[in-house]
Amino acid sequence: MSLRTPADGHVEDVAPGRGTLPPRARYASSDAASLSLNGRWRLRVSATADAEDDAFARPGHDTGDWAEVTVPGHWVLQGHGAPIYTNHLYPFPVDPPHVPTENPTGDHLRHFDLPGDWPDAGDAVLRFDGVESCARVWLNGTELGDFKGSRLPHEFAVGHLLRPAGNVLAVRVHQWSAGSYLEDQDQWWLPGIFRDVTLLHRPPGSVGDFFVHASYDHVTGAGTLRVDSDVPGRVTVPELGVDVATGEPVTVPVAPWTAETPRLYDGVLATAGERVPLRIGFRTVALEDGLIKVNGTPLLFKGVNRHEWHPRHGRALDLDTMREDVLLMKRHNINAVRTSHYPPHPAFLDLCDEYGLWVIDECDLETHGFVEQDWRDNPVDDARWTPALLDRAARMVERDKNHPSVVMWSLGNEAGTGRGLTAMADWIHDRDPARPVHYEGDLDCRDTDVYSRMYPPHAEVERIARGLDGGTRRRRRLPLILCEYAHAMGNGPGGLADYQELFETYDRLQGGFVWEWIDHGIEHPELGYAYGGDFGEELHDGNFVCDGLLFPDRTPSPGLTEYGKVIEPVRIGPGGTDGTVRVTNRYDFADLSHLEFEASHQIDGRPAGTHRLTVPPLGPGESAEVKLPPAPDDEGGEVQWTVRALLAGDLSWAGRGHTVAWGQGTVVRRAPVAAAAGARPAVDGDTVTLGPAVFDARTGAPRTVAGVRVRDLRLDVWRAPTDNDHGAHWQSDVRCGPHWRELGLHRMRHRLDAVETDGEALTVRTRVAPAGREAGLRTVYRWTSDGERLRLTVSVVPEGDWTVPLPRLGVRFGLDAASTDAVSWFGGGGEAYPDTQAASLLGRWEAGVAELQTPYVRPQENGARADVRWVELGGLRIEGEPEFWFSARPWTNEQLDAARHRTDLTPGDTVWVNLDHRQHGIGSQSCGPGPLPRYFLWPEPAEFSFVFSVPGD
Ligand code: GAL
Repeated sequence: MSLRTPADGHVEDVAPGRGTLPPRARYASSDAASLSLNGRWRLRVSATADAEDDAFARPGHDTGDWAEVTVPGHWVLQGHGAPIYTNHLYPFPVDPPHVPTENPTGDHLRHFDLPGDWPDAGDAVLRFDGVESCARVWLNGTELGDFKGSRLPHEFAVGHLLRPAGNVLAVRVHQWSAGSYLEDQDQWWLPGIFRDVTLLHRPPGSVGDFFVHASYDHVTGAGTLRVDSDVPGRVTVPELGVDVATGEPVTVPVAPWTAETPRLYDGVLATAGERVPLRIGFRTVALEDGLIKVNGTPLLFKGVNRHEWHPRHGRALDLDTMREDVLLMKRHNINAVRTSHYPPHPAFLDLCDEYGLWVIDECDLETHGFVEQDWRDNPVDDARWTPALLDRAARMVERDKNHPSVVMWSLGNEAGTGRGLTAMADWIHDRDPARPVHYEGDLDCRDTDVYSRMYPPHAEVERIARGLDGGTRRRRRLPLILCEYAHAMGNGPGGLADYQELFETYDRLQGGFVWEWIDHGIEHPELGYAYGGDFGEELHDGNFVCDGLLFPDRTPSPGLTEYGKVIEPVRIGPGGTDGTVRVTNRYDFADLSHLEFEASHQIDGRPAGTHRLTVPPLGPGESAEVKLPPAPDDEGGEVQWTVRALLAGDLSWAGRGHTVAWGQGTVVRRAPVAAAAGARPAVDGDTVTLGPAVFDARTGAPRTVAGVRVRDLRLDVWRAPTDNDHGAHWQSDVRCGPHWRELGLHRMRHRLDAVETDGEALTVRTRVAPAGREAGLRTVYRWTSDGERLRLTVSVVPEGDWTVPLPRLGVRFGLDAASTDAVSWFGGGGEAYPDTQAASLLGRWEAGVAELQTPYVRPQENGARADVRWVELGGLRIEGEPEFWFSARPWTNEQLDAARHRTDLTPGDTVWVNLDHRQHGIGSQSCGPGPLPRYFLWPEPAEFSFVFSVPGD
């Protein structure tokens, strides 16, 4: 006799569910009554799926000792259990469709009364917008059914069970189910009812499913609207004078919808029992001449991959957070979103329609963990799972089909290949022939309408662009998009400008989507933000979950600033002749009439006048040479112009004056730094005095400069490796970070060979090298002075067999923290490295030492400023020849390197300053390619100088 007959058989059933209604279009509102069931629910978490029977679902069950949880939410983020982060490994044994006996199970209970004015007639539907990973539902003790498909809607008909008061809604949620095998996305595993729960009144004659077909003919300027509806009714669009029966097409002149010009027309679908507001955008998506075109124009995606994330609420996002994402995207010139790797909360798509973003809507499907067994038993190639896959495809397409912003369907992510995917593609093509289908795993493009890749190096992208990559006949006729590129983990991504140049050069390249939008750090009292492993997970992938352009609190990281600059829709660069700029409209659809232009000059970084610049109303792709206002008298200084394109009026996503694009050019170059020589070094006991500086006679190291104590000035080649320096372990290309450490660049020894004085200089000869290695850097420090200013010239000659580039090459020293806070400099404003430098705006800047730190969730090299002419801090002015990279921190690079979380770093009594002649590039190797060869810092003979003096006024 079997003692274990699981009442939870559905958990391991590959079928999508039982008892739910067929999927249908989602709409934000209607005149039918509805009741939100969000709020506080009772919760009981059990360790296994069958620890408790289903008595809790019966009215009257005593929940006195149950906890409470907020719905939408994840119970593991509300004090019950813990989140788990894995990239692609399943955090349970792979034996589909079985799941572990340890299967955290949350019984959720909610009592509710109907509002007094809830209509008697009609039916009602209970809708769940998202439950991870599997739910079984009862209303008033009657079981409604069960479902899987975490980020998809599921509805039950419940009218016959509702009571005016005292309704009991019971939902049993299992963390693991057969569905988990289809949801192996690289993110936290977060069980719970994490999207809205709503009761919807369905009046007699109410709207069922409907499909808004709103196309645009760019030749005639006419839009054609046809709303197919299961329940017949009328469609009105007052602004267009449209009043037609459902199913009947009507053609009228319209303004089209594009992400740049998101024109929506308000309409109504009215059936006998319900009025549903429509927001209609007319646009036609087509694959033509091997390109994805909208309204006849090829698109260039300047996109991001967006997971839903909130540092406290996980994937339970409120409307304000979603809106913040959209506003931040628009303000950084992003024009497209791939909803990696599942359909987002439906309100997000309403926002994309409204503000204007192209959307690739991706299905909730990933089976990446099967790669570990060479994709054997992959559910997407096993007919038993096909109904579940088709269910997922249908739930996405039916829910989201009426959004003009959705221009492509994506079958899912990293699920290998198989007939299940083909079945999904076939179904989608049939249901919605007006949108192309995307899936990156389909390398031959058998099922898809676009060739999609992730993380190819620049050279390969160019090969594909030129059609030299081979591939199937079908693939060769399709455009390329990079559904993921530029891995924004930690400091980076590098190389964005170089990708963009390719995208803008070759027609076949239709842009890409940076990976990814936001770091999924979880707010944590001791750690700042937690990442994989911080909850004691037995398998995890560490901080690979923090790889976004935003920090977890949605502060833009320098990577977002860089991206916003690289993809700006107006190019402003030097003109063909002196005194002109070339302005190019790089929008696909919009002209420049929403912008105004401003030109300013700066002398030695000081603003010297701002003027309005008149730019002709250029159409997409057009450019013009525009005369700049005359440059001011340079007074012997260096002169730059800056031209900015600003919003000329308030838009929905930013106010008047918001900078959309800028360009900068040099009119008068920097003069060489004045010599500092002539003073004689004077030896006095154990010190040497040279101009304003006092040195240790034995070591040749400066003790004070202009009365300021200077600690441990010496050559420095180490940087706390970035995530991109570390690289991903699966990469076959050289990964610098591990090599640097292996070579010992973090433990360089400084051998003192000589301290010499002559009539005009103090010269210190050293050799800098790690223990155990032959390779080293012969380093000479030569100090001179004119009595007031002190010049250091550093010469470096590499010796031995160097097989890796250097992290950095420069000097570092310590200043007393107590007197070193305000920093001012003339150079690039924000963080920059050789291949992340596009957004570095030259000017005079000021910041406190704390502000100079970029708070990457896992601490690493950060905060360098590029092209610095001079910096003032701690009572010193330092000019560089040539320009240099500058950083200052309240801890050492070694401490930065050792830290795992922000909270491991506490300011000490010294501010450590790095003045770098060069820096190694950043690249994207935490998932993609490393820096391009031209950003490598190969050891070679180098000489660079710094002049120290007392800051002027
Ligand atoms: C891709 C994957 C993403 C993410 C990324 C690395 O392969 O599609 O989900 O894992 O790599 O962060």
